[in-house]
Amino acid sequence: MPISAVSAEELDEQKLFIRRVCAVIHVFDHKPLAYTHSYGCQQNVSDSEKLDGMLEKMGFGFTDTPDNADLVLYNTCAVRENAENRVFGNVGALKHLKARNPDMVIAVCGCMVQQEQVAARMKQRFPYVDLIFGTHVLHKFPEMLYSVYEKRERVVCIPENDGVLAEGLPVRRESRFKASVPIMYGCNNFCTFCIVPKVRGRERSREPESIVSEVKGLIDKGYKEILLLGQNVNSYGKGSEVGFPELLKRLDELDGEFVISFMTSHPKDCSHELIDVIAKSRHISHHLHLPVQSGSDRILKLMNRHYDTAKYLELVQYARSRIPDIQLTTDIIVGFPGELREDFDKTLDLMRTVKYDSAFTFIYSRREGTKAAEMEDPVSDEDKGKWFRELLDVQGEIGEKAYEKYVGKTLRVLCEGRGRTDDKLLTGKSRQNIIVDFAGSDELLGTFVDIKITKALPWALVGERI
Ligand code: SAH
Ligand code: SF4
Ligand code: F3S
Repeated sequence: MPISAVSAEELDEQKLFIRRVCAVIHVFDHKPLAYTHSYGCQQNVSDSEKLDGMLEKMGFGFTDTPDNADLVLYNTCAVRENAENRVFGNVGALKHLKARNPDMVIAVCGCMVQQEQVAARMKQRFPYVDLIFGTHVLHKFPEMLYSVYEKRERVVCIPENDGVLAEGLPVRRESRFKASVPIMYGCNNFCTFCIVPKVRGRERSREPESIVSEVKGLIDKGYKEILLLGQNVNSYGKGSEVGFPELLKRLDELDGEFVISFMTSHPKDCSHELIDVIAKSRHISHHLHLPVQSGSDRILKLMNRHYDTAKYLELVQYARSRIPDIQLTTDIIVGFPGELREDFDKTLDLMRTVKYDSAFTFIYSRREGTKAAEMEDPVSDEDKGKWFRELLDVQGEIGEKAYEKYVGKTLRVLCEGRGRTDDKLLTGKSRQNIIVDFAGSDELLGTFVDIKITKALPWALVGERI
């Protein structure tokens, strides 16, 4: 089925189900509480904010533990096996709560259950899960939940399709000044190791006007950091007039003091134009998360990444020449099928050349249904573990000194909460997306302050307000 936009009528229909659920839970002898938890990436967190938005409209309050919840909702991630195991463990742990409170509704949704074999396992192993739904029916949550309350039997809804685009769902945002805004959904890249295209469907971009108006609305409401989301933001608007650099330009024209950041940028179509837009911007974060995955061209080809290390290094060099204070971070996979020691050594070389500010490193996890799952994988888990630790050591050494260049400089910081190095301090993020801790009072939360950096840690800076 092709991608379809969810119509206004369909959304109105869901509003009706919101009212119906409202009527059902209204008769409870207490205000019903929901516990929702999101695993995985920011996209999932953003989806959960919409699920929470719908729950709020239905009349639910929220609790931070499943123990006293009337409804537990897990939004799951399938990207690696350990992410899935954690969910299986946590859903298993709900059994005794459900036994104690049979009226509790348990729902599991998201990327994991969008895989047929996992949904089957979930259904069979956890008969007490009431609602299971996939990634393409988020907007139908009220209808599905009503069905659970009405029929008192399990509801499963996991259509296989290319995905939908639903505008205007209610959102309950976690923060008063940081907001995530998805600009596109799905992925067309089919990196051979990755399950995301299978569980999230094909790439679909929101209209630039909807995004600009949402961001403007958020800024008017006092939001100071806007995180634009997409599996590959560089493919935003492909084939249309407004691509990602143009979208950023339009957002940068908005007035106010705010920072716009984005995730994730795929190196294959990260352009000089994009880097130029960031360099000239007033509001765009000086942070580029550019996942390289491997430093071996042979492995990059097997991964279907569509760039080689020469192109990657050229991009890094260009970004640093245009934006000297840019923070560069990456993702790396160790132990892709068929990776040899000599390939891994090239990854270490690339890390030493680029000197990332930080790197997210993963041991390859076999995902059923991907191309890499069919490839020969002769390297032992033990060797992979050894390489992984080596990689951490090398990045540790690089990261140790990465932030020293900021000592003595003044950075403008958005104050976000209690200190991460010391809870008597406050914490915030600089335009480079670096954590900065400093002394100050709670009135500073959600404001920008100038901080003179006095100390650099491998993962944060400490400074004083000037
Ligand atoms: N769309 C983003 C990545 C999303 S997944 C991008 O292309 O950059 C986040 C990271 O998880 C990936 O960059 C990759 O490093 C890692 N990852 C994805 N699938 C994996 C797998 N099967 N095993 C180990 N790591 C994986
Ligand atoms: Fe996965 Fe590659 Fe798509 Fe990222 S770009 S989500 S790694 S397939
Ligand atoms: Fe995981 Fe789905 Fe995100 S698989 S990484 S939650 S898109």
